[in-house]
This record gives sequence, structure tokens and C-alpha cells, in this order.
Amino acid sequence: MNVLVIGNGGREHAILLALKKSKRVEKLYCMKGNAGTAQIAENVNVDYMNVGAVKAYVSAHPEIDYIVVAPDDPLALGLVDELEAMGKRCFGPRKNAAVIEASKAFSKNLMKKYGIPTAEAETFTDYDKALEYVRRKGAPIVLKADGLALGKGVLVCNDLKQAEEGLKEIMLDKTFGSAGNVILIEECMRGLKYTPGEEVSVLAFCDGKTIVPMITACDHKRANDGDKGLNTGGMGTFSPCPFWTKELETEVYEKIMLPTMNAMNAEGRTFKGCLYFGLMRTDKGMKVVEYNSRFGDPETQVILPMLKTDLLDIFEAVTDERLGDIKIEWETGACVCVVLASGGYPLGYRKGLEIEIGDTCGCEIVHAGTAVKDGKLVTSGGRVLGVVAKGKTVEEARKKAYKAAGNIKFENKHLRTDIGVKYREG
Ligand code: AMP
Ligand code: GLY
Repeated sequence: MNVLVIGNGGREHAILLALKKSKRVEKLYCMKGNAGTAQIAENVNVDYMNVGAVKAYVSAHPEIDYIVVAPDDPLALGLVDELEAMGKRCFGPRKNAAVIEASKAFSKNLMKKYGIPTAEAETFTDYDKALEYVRRKGAPIVLKADGLALGKGVLVCNDLKQAEEGLKEIMLDKTFGSAGNVILIEECMRGLKYTPGEEVSVLAFCDGKTIVPMITACDHKRANDGDKGLNTGGMGTFSPCPFWTKELETEVYEKIMLPTMNAMNAEGRTFKGCLYFGLMRTDKGMKVVEYNSRFGDPETQVILPMLKTDLLDIFEAVTDERLGDIKIEWETGACVCVVLASGGYPLGYRKGLEIEIGDTCGCEIVHAGTAVKDGKLVTSGGRVLGVVAKGKTVEEARKKAYKAAGNIKFENKHLRTDIGVKYREG
């Protein structure tokens, strides 16, 4: 089969690396891709947010049998619906199901209606009413712009002054654009053992009839060591989550995963694809922080390398609604991804800086913001590369990843030195 993966980042490179292992894959394509995807797939220089252009390309390439839509924006736009209408088989939710990520107000109402555990919240469109509510509730309090804001539309406010300023930024100054037309004001959840609360990402394959969790992962969202600095798309991940247990898995499956799949069915919004549960362990049990309608980035980089089952088999089983018939198997052990970013990220940074990759020490180098210019590998984004290492334990994997990370050079390279070091139990 010939498979097209839509997206440009580390997640897409990781999906392509997993698909490349499939015996049934003949040729891979990536729209638009990066310098890493170009090594294993044909990069297609088409803007995937331009539905007409994507359709024109797909019509002109009938040899493409299957399409994976990976990023949130084209899913929210309804690209899967458009491609299916052309008779193409796809992996990814339709527009009416992708709303579970695209609107935080929608997902909050869904959880309320179906009794899925999450932080208490109220939705506002009126600034004065929102301000009155914030003052009444007091800090700490969490403000969330409703729409997609590149993971940056969430403010965890520790005091009232911060909350009042944040409210003004989102609702009046429109820092996150139209994503801030509707705002959610949430109770600040507390972790069972750690402050801020301990978080885990659980991704699941879902075909609307069956939902199968993957192995767990933890993300490091802040730019600097010790969870300091600005929120980013993710500076590194590790798998498995140290505080995860069989009991938690059962609790999450019964109280969160299955009820979410059933709720989406009941709403006439059957979810088919990868459903991502951002969860927090609190003193009142596991709660949902957020849903994503797609694979996480950089979670995918530490999850898919551990998959033993053919990824294309799983994708097709989801499309054909026979996920319950296949067995999904994982390697034991651990996996760590250390992100190498451009200095300055998530704010301004330079591009076009030459990258030198030395001894990779047996790690997989997953490309995110890279390009080839005049025959040379250069930086082209905020998150440049992910160094992915496997080991018997997280500690073993992280040592290996950092050794290889030290052998990769570009000007202003920025990385956290504490990926994999959190939530250590015992
Ligand atoms: P989100 O984009 O909704 O995942 O939020 C980004 C981050 O903000 C999460 O990963 C949490 O660390 C934090 N956060 C979001 N909602 C809450 C909440 N209700 N209580 C405490 N922290 C939260
Ligand atoms: N790593 C978080 C996300 O993909 O949203």
C-alpha cells in the first residue's frame, strides 16, 4: 500500500518511521514533511490547510491508498470528511468528532453531561460576568481560551491579579485571536503527591466500538529545567509514566475512556482515530485535563517505537471498525525523547542554522523543524530534532539520549537536562 501522512513535525516523522516497518507498505508520502521525512518518504509541497489543493493532489495521485491526517488544524477543518467523500480511506476523526479538541467548551459540556471526571468549570462570552466570577472564586484559578491556540491558550493563575490580567488578555486584547471569544474558567486541580499536579498522557486507538489504550507517556511542557519558563509544544517525553498502575488503568478505562467513546456515539459524533486523554492524578481520583483528537507531539516519539504490532494493520482496523479483532502488543522497557530546540523558542528564534549530527549512539533522530538548504541540513522551526532512546529503564534510556544529544550541534541549541526526571515514586 502507498500511504500519505499529512503534517510537518516530529510526530509525523515518528508515524512514518513506524509505518516503514510494515511489510505491507510500499511507498510513503508526507505533506509537507521535513528533512527527516524526506529520507523515508516523498515529501509533497502542498499546503495541507488548503483543502482544494490537497484534493487536487490526491485526485492526481490515485496510487495513494490510505491517508493519515495527523495535526489538529486540518482535522478541525474537516479534511478527513473531504477525503472520505472522494472515496479515500483515512485515519483521523471527522470534523464533528475532532471538535472534542477544537472546542474546550464542547468537551467540558460533554464531560459534565456524561459524568466524566474533570475540573469544575463555567463558560463565559461576557467579560464583566467572567470578571465577577473570577473575583468570587478567587485564586488559584485556570483560564482557557475556547479554541485551538497551539497549546498556549491556557493560563494557570496563582493569584487574583494574574487572573484579572489574563482575563483581559484573552477576552479584551484577544491575545489568542478568536479562540478567546469564549472562555472557560476552571477550578485549579491539585495533584495527589506533587505540585503542580501529576499529569499523564494516555493515547488510545478508537473505532467507535472499541477503545484500546496505548502505553503511557509524560510530557515536559515548560521551556526550562525544573518546569520553569514558558509553555511550549513539549520539550521532551518519556514512557512509561512512573506512577501508572494496573488499578489506575482500570479506573481510567471504566470511568473516562469507555464513557467518552460512548458519549461521542450518543451525541452522533462517533470518534474514529487516536483519542488523546490528558489526565491528572488528583486526591479525588483521575481527572481529564484535556482531550486531543490526534497523536500527541512529542508523546508519539516515545510510544510508537515500542509498538510491536503493524501500525498500518491497526490504522486499517480502526477505519473498518474491527479494532476489537486485533491484538495490539508492546515492547517492555522504557523510551525517552529529548527535544533539541532553537534558542529563543517558544518566542522568536533564528532559522537556517546548519546542523551537524555526530555519533547517534544507537538513538533514532526524529526530525521536526529541519530542512535541506544548498545540500546542507539546517534548522527551520522552534523544535528542531527529537533524540529518541530506548532502554530497560527510563534512567538507562535518558542517559543514552543525552549522550547522543551532546553529539548534535547547531548554533543556539537549547534543551532541557531533566527530561525523564519527575514523578519518581519511592
Ligand atoms: P491544556 O492545554 O488544557 O492541557 O492545559 C495546559 C496545562 O495547564 C495542563 O497540562 C496543566 O498542566 C494545566 N492545567 C490545565 N487545566 C488545569 C486545571 N484545571 N487545574 C490545574 N492545572 C491545569
Ligand atoms: N504534547 C502535547 C500535545 O501534543 O498536545
